[in-house]
Amino acid sequence: MDKAWLDATRTPAERTELLLAQMTLAEKVGQLHQPANVSAADDAESLRAGRIGTSLSASGATAGNVRDEGVAVRAVNAVQRIAVEESRLGIPLLMARDVIHGHRTVFPIPLGQAATWDAGLVERGARLAAVEASAVGIGWTFTPMMDITGDHRWGRVAESLGEDPVLAGRLAAATVRGLQTDDLSAPDAIAACAKHYVGYGLAEGGRDYNSVTAGENSLRNLQLRPFHECVRAGVATVMSSFNDIDGVPVHANRRYLREILKDEWAFDGAIVSDWDGVGEIVQHRVAADLADAARQGLEAGVDMDMVSGAYLAHLEQLVSDGAVSVDLLDDAVRRVLTLKFRCGIFEHPYTDEDLEAQVSGSDEHRAAARSAAAASLVLLKNDGILPLAAASDERILLTGPLLDATDALFGTWTLDGRADEVVSIADGLTRFTGPGARSVPWTHSDQVLAAAREVSTVVAFVGEHPVRSGEANSITTLDLPVGQLETLQAIKAVGVRLVVVVLGGRALSLPWIAEHADAVLYAWHPGSEGGNAIADVLFGAVGPRGRLPITLPRSAGQQPLVYNHRSTGRPIALARDGQWGRYQDSLSAPLYPFGFGLTYGSVEYSGVMVQGASPVTASVVVTNTGDLACTEVVQVYVRDEVAAVTRPVKELLDWAVVELAAGASQTVRFTIDDERLGYYGPDGRFRVDPGEFALWIAPDSASGEPVSFTRA
Ligand code: NOJ
Repeated sequence: MDKAWLDATRTPAERTELLLAQMTLAEKVGQLHQPANVSAADDAESLRAGRIGTSLSASGATAGNVRDEGVAVRAVNAVQRIAVEESRLGIPLLMARDVIHGHRTVFPIPLGQAATWDAGLVERGARLAAVEASAVGIGWTFTPMMDITGDHRWGRVAESLGEDPVLAGRLAAATVRGLQTDDLSAPDAIAACAKHYVGYGLAEGGRDYNSVTAGENSLRNLQLRPFHECVRAGVATVMSSFNDIDGVPVHANRRYLREILKDEWAFDGAIVSDWDGVGEIVQHRVAADLADAARQGLEAGVDMDMVSGAYLAHLEQLVSDGAVSVDLLDDAVRRVLTLKFRCGIFEHPYTDEDLEAQVSGSDEHRAAARSAAAASLVLLKNDGILPLAAASDERILLTGPLLDATDALFGTWTLDGRADEVVSIADGLTRFTGPGARSVPWTHSDQVLAAAREVSTVVAFVGEHPVRSGEANSITTLDLPVGQLETLQAIKAVGVRLVVVVLGGRALSLPWIAEHADAVLYAWHPGSEGGNAIADVLFGAVGPRGRLPITLPRSAGQQPLVYNHRSTGRPIALARDGQWGRYQDSLSAPLYPFGFGLTYGSVEYSGVMVQGASPVTASVVVTNTGDLACTEVVQVYVRDEVAAVTRPVKELLDWAVVELAAGASQTVRFTIDDERLGYYGPDGRFRVDPGEFALWIAPDSASGEPVSFTRA
């Protein structure tokens, strides 16, 4: 056979046509089938027959919760060798694995990375993860995740990039760039996957996988936006989500998959189902059986069937019977083959088995993880106690359930990090603490209290273990795990100064801590270098600069709660010091607003100005009147005063990360082109209205005074 498709001077599209023309129906279907954990020992026959297109390496259906033994590059090469050298057409497999926030070097959970508001840091983290993952033969990963939600009962919020579509979209696109680079065929570039498309974060009651009732206008103006951003950034693949939308399971949802994503947005990559998502159309009771599910999935636009086996078992017959058109099948196969050509795996199907040892977990990677973790920390309160003095002989007690944690610092979705390579918080702190510091395990509260009586300051590391967040891990209160608050209250009652560092995979509600602690640092799950990063910030070697990418509620009863809710006919003041509003038993306002975060500086905003039209230029003067340098995240919010549909009371438009030395002042300018002021109207079309807009430039979503401008 003349394998003309191996000619790398042709374009991926040309090569795809040459290859497709040679394929049998069975081989075509094989390209759409993705089993988990393909091995040379168990799957040789299927590999030789061309019945497997891609392989997913995972510990199971909710792999983010369960570690496995990792990927052995030799085993990956062995699988690939059978596909390439022993199958009729020699089509290599694309090897996938969830590399969600780092590989062996673990970066903060995505929600923590979002708190950096720093696309450069996020891109770099993704780049290094791709370098490490590709060194074991991984060519494709299922990230970025950009599900937008305001409901932190839902455990998967840990994997998200926050509640705002502009922030999530920009950081997701940065992730795509970091993973794929501008040359996806490079051996150390890996294909990204925008997920979970779409609406998954709206699960009713925060119960994972639950129904979603949302109109197309809401989805277009919110949940779909970051996906569109990723498509524009060239994301290679998209994953369909487990939920239904208004009665139609996404895996069978032609409207969202085919009409909007593939046709309207001209997405030319491939759509992969989520784990068993095609098979689960049957569980949704919308398909009669697996064959019906296969037909519905393919027709809706799902190109690859992850693990359900529906396509492998039934597509051949469905096409032979004329129940599914061969054109639809060919379209899906084309997308998979083109993806493989783009990834360059025909040119480099195998991975150098010595590479991993050279690149994985290097000092350079760890330094980047440490900077990212430090930048993710959000200082919520500081009554002048932070930064702590290094090497001091002040008597200080370090305690808390997470003080000595190792792999618990990883957070959900860490498959390849190693517990013995984590810098615990206790270890990180030893670089700074002086002779007056001691630590006491949290296990026996009597001992903690006895020790607290001997010191002037207690630093407590509390919060969630990762098993409490992530897939299928929803909770009903957003309080700290049982018992932690009680111990903190008893410590404070001793009369000490109390610094609380909270780790978690979601927004926790911390009203007592916010009121009574002397300082509060929100630390997410910070990754391999978390201990060093937390110590750096507590002792002032690095200034805190993170900003909340979410709204911190007072209680779970406020969920869902977001800053950018739509204008109602009877507005509730959600400003920080708002009135009681609609709840009889609670303020309506959040505990801390979206965008909030303190620094060791003190930044004043003045002279907000808006000038020009199409584009509008907005500017502000920021001055650090404090004694310490800081990194300020200057945020721009906007409101369309009269629109064709109800629009957010306020919406993030742009931001800038600015370094300010003590006493320094800087003018920060933003260009607001028309597109940023637009939205989708009731007819489903994107529009930009003339008329009045309100604009804020402020340190968070609840501060500042609006300035108005008119778009002609
Ligand atoms: C299920 C999860 O929903 C998804 O995020 C993940 O990528 C796949 N499993 C593969 O592990």
